[in-house]
Amino acid sequence: MNFDGQSIIVTGGGSGIGRATVLKFAELGGRVAVADVSLDAAREVSSLAGGGSIPLQVDVSDAAQVRAMVDETVAAFGGIDVLCNNAGFGFLGTVADIGEADWDRLMAVNVKGVYLCSKYSLPALARSGEGRIVNTSSYTAAVGIPNRAAYVASKGAVSALTRAMALDHVGQGIRVNAVAPGTVNSPYFNKIVGESADPQAVLEELNGRSPMHRMGEPEEIAAAIVWLASKESSFATGSVLTVDGGTSSW
Ligand SMILES: NC(=O)c1ccc[n+]([C@@H]2O[C@H](COP(=O)([O-])OP(=O)(O)OC[C@H]3O[C@@H](n4cnc5c(N)ncnc54)[C@H](O)[C@@H]3O)[C@@H](O)[C@H]2O)c1
Repeated sequence: MNFDGQSIIVTGGGSGIGRATVLKFAELGGRVAVADVSLDAAREVSSLAGGGSIPLQVDVSDAAQVRAMVDETVAAFGGIDVLCNNAGFGFLGTVADIGEADWDRLMAVNVKGVYLCSKYSLPALARSGEGRIVNTSSYTAAVGIPNRAAYVASKGAVSALTRAMALDHVGQGIRVNAVAPGTVNSPYFNKIVGESADPQAVLEELNGRSPMHRMGEPEEIAAAIVWLASKESSFATGSVLTVDGGTSSW
C-alpha cells in the first residue's frame, strides 16, 4: 500500500486508534491532518508522524470548526483524498439512567460529527476523483452489549450511515466503508482499568470478551482502516469490516 502524495484527515488522531492510524499513513507516504479536540495531542502525534503532517484543533460536532478543518487541510495539502471519521467516545449507562444532555453530547460527537466532517469534505473528496471515507464504528453496532445504550445506538447509526453514504456518493467516485473494532487496548480502557477498585478483574473481563482472550491493539485496527482507505480495497464500498478477535462470532 502506498499513500505517496495523498492528503488524509484523521479525526480523533491524537490518541489510541486514531494515533496508530496517523502513524501508519505517514509511514506509507501520506500527508496527514491530525485533527483532534485536544491540540496538544494532535501536535504530539503530528510531530511523531513527520512527513509534512499538520495538527488541527477541531470539535467534530461544531460545523464552523469542521469547515475550518477542511479549509486548512485543503490549503496545506491542495485537496483531500481520504477522510477517517474516527473521533468518538462512550460511557456506561442504560436508557433508564442516561441523562438527556449526556445522550445529546454523545450523539453530537459520534454521529453528527461523521455527518459534518463528511458533508464538508465531500466536495474535495469528489475533486480527488477517488475519494475515500473510512468511519470507525464498533462491533457493538451489530451485537448489543449491556449498559452502553447510547454508545451502541451511536455506532449503529455510524454503520447505517456508512452504507447509505456509499450508495449516495458512488457516482462521484467516492468509496465509504467502516471498521467495526472489538475492545481495543486504548488510553480510554487503560483509564477504566486504572481507576477501578479491582483492576485485575476488570482486565480479565475486557480480555474475556474475545475468544482470543485479549484486547486488540490500536495498530491492529489501524491496519484495517488503512486497507479500506487504500487503492487495494478498490471493490469495497458500504462494507463494515469487523475486527474484533472473534467477539461477535460467539
Ligand atoms: N477502544 C475501543 O475498545 C473501541 C472499540 C470500538 C470502537 N472504538 C471507537 O474508536 C474510535 C477511537 O477510540 P479510541 O479507543 O482510540 O479512543 P481514545 O479516547 O484513545 O481516542 C479518541 C480521540 O478522539 C478525540 N475526540 C473526542 N471527542 C472529540 C471531538 N468532539 N472532536 C474531535 N476529537 C475528539 C479525543 O481527544 C481522543 O484523542 C472511537 O470512535 C471509538 O468509539 C473504540
